Amino acid sequence: MSVTLAEHVRAVAGAEATELDVVLTRIAGAGRLIARELARAALVGQLGMTGDTNVQGEPVKKLDLWSNQVIVDALAATGLVCTMVSEEMAEPLHLADRCATARYVVCFDPVDGSSNLDVNGVVGTIFGIRRRTAGAEHVAVDAIQPGGAQIAAGYIMYGPATVLVLTLGKDVDAFTLGAPDGEFLRSHAGLRMPPHGHTYSANDANATHWVPGVREFLDHLRSGGTGRTYTARYAGSLVGDFHRTLIEGGIFLYPAETTSAGKLRLQYEAAPVAFLAERAGGRATTGREAVTAIRPTSYHQRVALIVGSPDEVTLAEAFIAARR
Ligand code: AHG
Ligand code: MN
Ligand code: MN
Repeated sequence: MSVTLAEHVRAVAGAEATELDVVLTRIAGAGRLIARELARAALVGQLGMTGDTNVQGEPVKKLDLWSNQVIVDALAATGLVCTMVSEEMAEPLHLADRCATARYVVCFDPVDGSSNLDVNGVVGTIFGIRRRTAGAEHVAVDAIQPGGAQIAAGYIMYGPATVLVLTLGKDVDAFTLGAPDGEFLRSHAGLRMPPHGHTYSANDANATHWVPGVREFLDHLRSGGTGRTYTARYAGSLVGDFHRTLIEGGIFLYPAETTSAGKLRLQYEAAPVAFLAERAGGRATTGREAVTAIRPTSYHQRVALIVGSPDEVTLAEAFIAARR
């Protein structure tokens, strides 16, 4: 008999099982709606741009905005979330009327990999859940808690199957949507990232901008320096690229560049993925420090992300450190 997401959460979430069941069931429900909308987007005028740009100066797609609202509504309906941080909202959204009963802060990227939307490529939704703090100024404090403060993190991958990958701080499990209106059923229990893999994943077009050591590291992999052979895969969606790395091992890099910290956003892209990787036996670093140890200074802070199997991530760090 398959275990549903709700049954799983109630069994493993400990003292907060009731509350986390509500929040995660709503996130899963939002994922079900987003999956359905993605499937019919071309038929209902949901592809393309809104004409606006977001706080990061990036063009906003219709599905970015639509999905953001679906997740905001889902989290608001729980009554348990009072602060939300999203790629598509310049400032944290604070539901002041929820403060008395709300326990949680949720950071999310409603549609990750938006450049894939118009070409029917893989996209995802990423989320991280933290406890709120109690002080009068709690919103500003809550929204920049480090990745290590997450009590749950995960993503929903909209691929050939819709798959929700989740950690409640211990194991990493995956749940596959059985039918468009159905349940997420546990399909992978206790996922472990292999100690090393045979795939590297990076946007090679940026190679001339990367900080020293990254190109040398990838050359080392290509030339058989580890004694293993490698292949390259890059989907252009962190969710898709990380999911493969989680299942098969290897390494994903969106490194720092000589003139910037990196592209990915800490609070709703890098931190949840890093938290999942660590729970599955993998590692996640900027090249200098663990991603989950970073204390953010702003909601939309960008960060370098090198994540994957411990052998490859440790080797990448050594190459970067040697050329610092
Ligand atoms: P988003 O669509 O939420 O803005 O995120 C895109 C991110 C991430 O999904 C992916 O790993 C990376 O940007 C791809 O960037 P490049 O196109 O620069 O390779
Ligand atoms: Mn993203
Ligand atoms: Mn996004």
